[in-house]
Amino acid sequence: MGLSFFFFFFFFFFFFFFFFVELTRGQNNRLTEVNVGVVTDVGTSYSDVSMLCINMSLVDFYSSHPQLKTRLVVNIGDSRKDVIGAAAAALDLIKNKQVKAIVGPWTSMQAHFLIEIGQKSRVPIISYSATSPSLTSLRSPYFFRATYDDSSQVHAIKAIVKLFGWREVVPVYIDNTFGEGIMPRLTDALQEINVRIPYRTVISLNATDTEISVELLKMMNMPTRVFIVHMYTALASRFFIKAKEIGLMKPGYVWILTNGVMDDLSSINKTGIDGMEGVLGVKTYIQKSEDLDNFKARWSKLFPRLDMSVYGLWTYDAITTLAMAVEEAGTNNLTFSNADPRRNVSDLETLGVSQYGPMLLPTLSRVRFRGLAGDFRFFNRQLQPSVFEIVNIIGTGEKSLGFWTEENGLVKTLGQKPHSMNALSNWKDHLKHITWPGEADSVPPGWEIPTNGKKLRIGVPKRTGFPV
Ligand SMILES: *[C@@H]1O[C@H](CO)[C@@H](O)[C@H](O)[C@H]1NC(C)=O
Ligand SMILES: *[C@@H]1O[C@H](CO)[C@@H](O)[C@H](O)[C@H]1NC(C)=O
Ligand SMILES: *[C@@H]1O[C@H](CO)[C@@H](O)[C@H](O)[C@H]1NC(C)=O
Ligand SMILES: *[C@@H]1O[C@H](CO)[C@@H](O)[C@H](O)[C@H]1NC(C)=O
Ligand SMILES: *[C@@H]1O[C@H](CO)[C@@H](O)[C@H](O)[C@H]1NC(C)=O
Repeated sequence: MGLSFFFFFFFFFFFFFFFFVELTRGQNNRLTEVNVGVVTDVGTSYSDVSMLCINMSLVDFYSSHPQLKTRLVVNIGDSRKDVIGAAAAALDLIKNKQVKAIVGPWTSMQAHFLIEIGQKSRVPIISYSATSPSLTSLRSPYFFRATYDDSSQVHAIKAIVKLFGWREVVPVYIDNTFGEGIMPRLTDALQEINVRIPYRTVISLNATDTEISVELLKMMNMPTRVFIVHMYTALASRFFIKAKEIGLMKPGYVWILTNGVMDDLSSINKTGIDGMEGVLGVKTYIQKSEDLDNFKARWSKLFPRLDMSVYGLWTYDAITTLAMAVEEAGTNNLTFSNADPRRNVSDLETLGVSQYGPMLLPTLSRVRFRGLAGDFRFFNRQLQPSVFEIVNIIGTGEKSLGFWTEENGLVKTLGQKPHSMNALSNWKDHLKHITWPGEADSVPPGWEIPTNGKKLRIGVPKRTGFPV
């Protein structure tokens, strides 16, 4: 009796053992590796953050979905911090690794070239940081943006200008694809509320401190006192240190910053933040969630010295999206065909065309999930924000003044019912207490007559309610 039980047990043990081995082997055989590329400025801190987020995203995604049949294999291309470098890296990845999609690059200038390469070879390009609206106008079906288009915030800026009744504003921006990109939509939005743009201040990315000072003095000698600043943080930091030195951070001045600076405020040092006291800013709003808290806790434990930015969250989500889209697109057609192998006018002609590209487009467009940076879903191949946070820089950091939402306009808290914009309403119904530049004790009127050296303050009737 005991012996037969023993054999019985033995038999079952082996049966299950072999069954299990066969099962796992079968699963491994069915795993298909899919090459994808990452074009990034290797060696920079933002690239380090992106690469770590990419790795964490893949590990998290595949460990929580072990049953999936595809695995992304990441190939890195170094864009060497320039436009040609990004193009060369993309060409190399497509030609030599036959990547089925490319994630990156960092800047809108780099993205411009890559979008054309991607369209030609049918390789989707997914950027998490190239925000210039001018990229949308290329209308490439192969370009996806796991981030916001900069122009999505112009309505929040318009609402702020309208709330305080300023009649003229001066845009201040960098003279590149990123800086100029926001201008058409900003101009249109301000025109809708009859706000005039008397002139623009364009700053070169490489501007010296002297060149910045010259521009600031010109601004000081004009009557408009409301400025909308759209530039990178490194330049903004130098710009505001100079602005304070020259006297443009005194009572009467109004500065509104786009999310280009506000989302990356932690990269500005104390001297820079000091110079920015009193500015208002529009900031990307990331909904709080348990997943996000856990991720941030893990991150600060693993990499205490690397700041996690909103772009890191988008990188993480973009990779999850790509992994989901590849899984859904299946594993047929993972080849490239050459459109015309005899012609080789340039590298671009010999690239070949990804057969997988057309299958990936619909699956990318369909992806929907709850990501670290909020609900992830492409609308016309880019993310669509419905909320921005409005902040005020005070002391060593920022204070939340309220939110701009697509539905309710400016509100102090997200749950708040919108106030109707009637004659009796006050800006204080919409935003929390603001510290203005120079700690001005009332809302700056937005203009003053500059005089040489000695400035004459002109009193204007205090406005109650809203301009019509
Ligand atoms: C990401 O993972 C790959 C292999 O899985 C590794 O080679 C690479 O060094 C990792 N990158 C970072 C930044 O950790
Ligand atoms: C800015 O400086 C870089 C090198 O520091 C140079 O390559 C580039 O041409 C300059 N750009 C402009 C607009 O002067
Ligand atoms: C802070 O940043 C500014 C501008 O980027 C720079 O000129 C300055 O040297 C920095 N200060 C410190 C203490 O690092
Ligand atoms: C993709 O593969 C399927 C099945 O193998 C085939 O029917 C289809 O024509 C292929 N599509 C392209 C674009 O090659
Ligand atoms: C095409 O490329 C081949 C090999 O790369 C080269 O030998 C040939 O000269 C090229 N033809 C033209 C027309 O450029």
